[in-house]
Amino acid sequence: MAAPSRLLIRGGRVVNDDFSEVADVLVEDGVVRALGRDLLPPRGPPSGLRVLDAAGKLVLPGGIDTHTHMQFPFMGSQSIDDFHQGTKAALAGGTTMILDFAVPQKGGSLIEAFETWRSWADPKVCCDYSLHVAVTWWSDQVKEEMKILVHDKGVNSFKMFMAYKDLYMVRDLEMYAAFSQCKEIGAIAQVHAENGDLIAEGAKKMLALGITGPEGHELCRPEAVEAEATLRAITIASAVNCPLYIVHVMSKSAAKVIADARRDGKVVYGEPIAASLSTDGTHYWSKEWHHAAHHVMSPPLRPDPSTPDFLMNLLANDDLTTTGTDHCTFNTCQKALGKDDFTKIPNGVNGVEDRMSVIWEKGVHSGKMDENRFVAVTSTNAAKIFNLYPRKGRIAVGSDADIVIWDPKATRFKKGGIRHFQIPRLQIVNHIVTISAKTHHQAVNFNIFEGMVCHGVPLVTISRGKVVYEAGVFSVTAGDGKFIPRKPFAEYIYKRIKQRDQTCTPTPVERAPYKGEVTTQKSRV
Ligand code: URP
Ligand code: ZN
Ligand code: ZN
Ligand code: ZN
Repeated sequence: MAAPSRLLIRGGRVVNDDFSEVADVLVEDGVVRALGRDLLPPRGPPSGLRVLDAAGKLVLPGGIDTHTHMQFPFMGSQSIDDFHQGTKAALAGGTTMILDFAVPQKGGSLIEAFETWRSWADPKVCCDYSLHVAVTWWSDQVKEEMKILVHDKGVNSFKMFMAYKDLYMVRDLEMYAAFSQCKEIGAIAQVHAENGDLIAEGAKKMLALGITGPEGHELCRPEAVEAEATLRAITIASAVNCPLYIVHVMSKSAAKVIADARRDGKVVYGEPIAASLSTDGTHYWSKEWHHAAHHVMSPPLRPDPSTPDFLMNLLANDDLTTTGTDHCTFNTCQKALGKDDFTKIPNGVNGVEDRMSVIWEKGVHSGKMDENRFVAVTSTNAAKIFNLYPRKGRIAVGSDADIVIWDPKATRFKKGGIRHFQIPRLQIVNHIVTISAKTHHQAVNFNIFEGMVCHGVPLVTISRGKVVYEAGVFSVTAGDGKFIPRKPFAEYIYKRIKQRDQTCTPTPVERAPYKGEVTTQKSRV
């Protein structure tokens, strides 16, 4: 039987980034058609209308994960979650759109990389997606291709790596050129902020000391290495008045640099990830090699255990702006490529399925943020920065019906015993989820959030008007997701940039020419 083409989400609390209200949401042809009280006709639902009861639940814009790497060929392997399983897992966690990265080799075409990633993703994706493109080298060709990607291919964000020396790393002058071009064509510059030279030297030092295990990964790239690169990127972006987005903020030091820059009026945004907001780098010292290796990512999780709380506080008060996951998963046997040398462990952790519940738990359940800020940092801010708003990131008439019915209630143990039931592959005790690799939908055989109890749970996920996940059951086919093109000059970021160009461009001082003596002495060198 065909799924009803119309949905009425009834009686829930609709939460946007600025406002919550109890309302019904009518969905037709993939978009929100009406929003208001008592939209159900008194005589009951007409045929073809499915009613979803959301009383006592929250109705949220679907999550937007700003940072994933599905089936990424990287460090001698390929990340194990592909665009099919990775996006299914996203839906199970309440995320309805991902932004992944097309990454060309040095000397390679950006457009070819973009087309390659599209050819991998289009037939497989179960949720909507878009692509950032990496700039891993610089030339006139790269400059021209960036323009074509923006004009013809729906790209408005370019990522530069300041780390991964000899692989993807670009130098300051290349960044200056790339940032200048971003500004010219109305894109946002993104950086992986770590000093690649210091990391390379630090790694040699650790190996010479006989440190070959995962702890070496953190020891050779301490916080200052991330903070220095963050400040350098902000300084370069500010010099060309280009908006800047710092991906995967992992340390207190880097977050402080971003917060200071924002207070100085810089147009800069910081993206902590589910991992940095909820766990720490003490795992690198685990006696179990595989446990430590599964936490290896760059920049690393930080040994300072106060880091997640600190980052969450900054996220709550707008010093940091969005959240991603950097979902880039490798099974234990892939991580084992670096069993004798930490520099060979493929970098990356999981999170695409876990992000929404983890941020609810550590952000809202902990009392640091309210439901509206939760929506802002998991969906709306990303939609605004990457120019998807209000099509995505909002529940409003005309917006895509990417919607999650969310159970925010902690109803742990009821009197008279524990109601403990199993729905397919998701362990729920009266709506509390305990995250586990045994039950998650991600392909990877390890979960860095293992054992975390989460009180916020997606009950139903709706993607462009279709119920794709409900009570642990998927109704989605590979290719149901769509590539979402993005236009340049997002107002949310470019209004300030343009204003500054108009009012802050330096002008020469008008003065009479100097008519005095000019020395004739020549320098000896
Ligand atoms: O360790 C990480 N972050 N892996 C993915 C590549 C990147 O740097 O984003
Ligand atoms: Zn990175
Ligand atoms: Zn551990
Ligand atoms: Zn990444």
